[in-house]
Amino acid sequence: MSLLLIAKNRDFTSLKEALLEKDPNLDVEIWPRVQNKERVQFAVCWQHPKHVLDSYPNLKAVSSLGAGLNHLLDDEDLPESTRICRLVTTSLKDQMAEYILNAITNYRLHIPKYISQKQTGKWAQHSAIPKSSSSVGIMGMGEMGQAVAQELVRQGYLVNSWSRSQKDLDGINSFSGQDGLSSFLEHSKILVNLLPLTNETDGILDLELFKKLQKPGFLINVGRGSHLVEEDLIYALDTGQLDGAYLDVFNTEPLPENHPFWNRQNIMITPHIAAITPAKEAADVIVENYKRALSGMDLMFEVERERGY
Ligand code: NDP
Ligand code: OXD
Repeated sequence: MSLLLIAKNRDFTSLKEALLEKDPNLDVEIWPRVQNKERVQFAVCWQHPKHVLDSYPNLKAVSSLGAGLNHLLDDEDLPESTRICRLVTTSLKDQMAEYILNAITNYRLHIPKYISQKQTGKWAQHSAIPKSSSSVGIMGMGEMGQAVAQELVRQGYLVNSWSRSQKDLDGINSFSGQDGLSSFLEHSKILVNLLPLTNETDGILDLELFKKLQKPGFLINVGRGSHLVEEDLIYALDTGQLDGAYLDVFNTEPLPENHPFWNRQNIMITPHIAAITPAKEAADVIVENYKRALSGMDLMFEVERERGY
């Protein structure tokens, strides 16, 4: 039996070390140099190439190397019988909460404006946007969304959430389903996208949605690039519907050098770093799921294929 790590252009040295530290008896293979395809029973993938996952006849389960798993569900070569799981860890949730809080604070205190003023030696003060008029709407109330919401409530923000099913969480106003979407947006000024990418959520961040936010709104996208209709974001910024955006994920990554987002002072760009699982924590979850997959038990963070997340 072996465990296979698959990704394009990724150094797996520290993950392999952490896996072997957790269980020195593991047989860890790294794609594409696989010694024995028949022995592979579990694979861990991140943005893996097409036509790879169907070449392991005994593959029982496959894990995403992150919380998102759209790259696995999009893979038509992944056999129906292969179970899918993903990685969620405490530190991933903590990092996401810290990232979002930082993005919101930067916006409220006008930090991007001061960065741009510094470049031209301009001294101009801007009044901070009070917390009381900075209600936050979080789309997606799963592992990440809940961690972010709880941190924002602790910090004194008014927090609204939107998910498929209604939630009952302390201090958070819950909205759900298509029927609850408009009302959720009307109560929110700062919009945080933490939805998974599915057929239903692809392109959800569009002009019609931005228009329903308290004006001017602010967008933080840490979900996936395809959630956002890019030209609608530019239009919403240019027409004053939105005040700015903080983006961590993009349709094309790395974001191309000539992309119009780069030149906008009111768009902050980070290179998909909002939350990254440390190797040791990743190894804990991977080894546990490997053992569970081999023995036919339920997996941690198992994905429901039909639901799409
Ligand atoms: P979960 O699967 O735990 O949660 C998903 C949430 O989205 C649930 O609350 C679910 O509702 C809701 N949802 C799904 N579909 C819909 C829909 N059609 N309408 C309304 N709500 C919907 O995911 P995570 O919180 O773990 O992660 C979310 C995403 O965050 C990942 O898929 C990934 O894309 C992104 N991510 C980005 C990172 C980065 O560094 N930029 C790092 C980690 C994650 P319900 O609760 O009712 O099921
Ligand atoms: C993830 C990510 O899904 O980093 O974990 O985007």
